[in-house]
Amino acid sequence: MAPLRLGFLASHNGSNMQAILDACKEGRLAAQPAVVISNNSESGALARARQEGIPACHLSGHTHPGRGALDQAICAALTAHQVEVVCLAGYMKRLGPQTLAAYRGRVLNIHPALLPKFGGEGFYGQAVHQAVLAAGEKESGPTVHLVDEEYDHGPVLAQARVPVLPGDNPETLAARVLAQEHRLYADTLQRIARGEITLAGLTR
Ligand code: GRF
Repeated sequence: MAPLRLGFLASHNGSNMQAILDACKEGRLAAQPAVVISNNSESGALARARQEGIPACHLSGHTHPGRGALDQAICAALTAHQVEVVCLAGYMKRLGPQTLAAYRGRVLNIHPALLPKFGGEGFYGQAVHQAVLAAGEKESGPTVHLVDEEYDHGPVLAQARVPVLPGDNPETLAARVLAQEHRLYADTLQRIARGEITLAGLTR
């Protein structure tokens, strides 16, 4: 079977994307990174893509103003690079209707909490971990889920659990969760590549 062609959308550091790239290079994931798209021209994600020789596109409301233009450009870039599965990896924008329609059922996101808890509008970055701590949760961990029109809403594909420890602050908890994100995202993609998880939108 040919490697699964992955497209990434990321706004900032791109450490989850890097973990997936590493898994591909090390033979732990039967996939090929096809394109990296970011709304942030200064993002670590675009720098990492260039470093790795992966096509890198800066596409934003500035490069593509006007209703629907950015959505169309993102969809065109994914299609041009024959992307089969789209990985959101710290992408801070909502996908537009054209991209969602073209890739329905094969757009994944990773969220740093155990959805359906601590997800939705406003739950990003340290705010997620602050809320977990404020609620007195005994455990947290990342969720990989399918993306639909609502933030952090589509079906859950995989989760990992870490303890919340006495004395944790948002930074310590975030670091513990992030280490699991890196493992979980690549593992989940490998389960998709091997056919252990079936995506309705993916025909191979
Ligand atoms: C991660 O915590 C992820 O769960 C969330 O955004 C963060 C991205 O981190 N969606 P990075 O850019 O992959 O380092």
